[in-house]
Amino acid sequence: MAVQLLRCVLAGYAFLLFQDESSVQALIDACIQEDDKLYLCVSSPTIKDKPVQIRPWNLSDSDFVMDGSSPLDPRKTIFVGGVPRPLRAVELAMIMDRLYGGVCYAGIDTDPELKYPKGAGRVAFSNQQSYIAAISARFVQLQHGDIDKRVEVKPYVLDDQMCDECQGARCGGKFAPFFCANVTCLQYYCEHCWATIHSRPGREFHKPLVKEGADRPRTVPFRWC
Ligand SMILES: *[C@@H]1O[C@H](CO)[C@@H](O)[C@H](O)[C@H]1NC(C)=O
Ligand SMILES: *[C@@H]1O[C@H](CO)[C@@H](O)[C@H](O)[C@H]1NC(C)=O
Repeated sequence: MAVQLLRCVLAGYAFLLFQDESSVQALIDACIQEDDKLYLCVSSPTIKDKPVQIRPWNLSDSDFVMDGSSPLDPRKTIFVGGVPRPLRAVELAMIMDRLYGGVCYAGIDTDPELKYPKGAGRVAFSNQQSYIAAISARFVQLQHGDIDKRVEVKPYVLDDQMCDECQGARCGGKFAPFFCANVTCLQYYCEHCWATIHSRPGREFHKPLVKEGADRPRTVPFRWC
């Protein structure tokens, strides 16, 4: 663990970045613990000893492998948006496994510089049925402790996939810009193949899912077109 960060909830909240991990430990030691939560009493010119909640993030809570025997298949991976910040990867994995079964991995997306959760996660399944059940639901109720939040679920879209129809033959070998999340498709398409496949009756209403610079800091990883 190189850098740890914590969050205080006052009227709002603040992020504190420490030089050393030992400072975070010293802060935790100075806190009062109540129902698994940490509080520190702080005083200002107007308020004396106001308890503020401290939320340290342990870097080892960012990833959880539930079933190491299954290879991680990005095409059986979902993106979970709006994940409450204190939720750990192990908890996200348990919740999704209880709902859909077959979870092999869960990850909490963290800021590349600060390593603090960004409020999104990924869950990989070992089988197609669980994956399809999860993306078909679109929304999932995340319940854990005093967390109870409806969050959005989408297929995890990669930006380095070939068109599944032409394998690059009709688009000069470029990576496919579109993914169709409709369960009758669930494929990557180049512009040409998207148009061809979706001119078929019943498919004209499918909407492409496009990946948008997820690894660049502070951008929204996905958008619906
Ligand atoms: C962080 O996680 C590691 C591994 O699970 C654990 O050994 C350690 O005690 C945790 N640190 C804190 C401050 O909870
Ligand atoms: C998926 O596509 C099928 C056939 O193209 C269509 O009937 C169905 O409504 C679509 N599903 C969604 C969720 O849009």
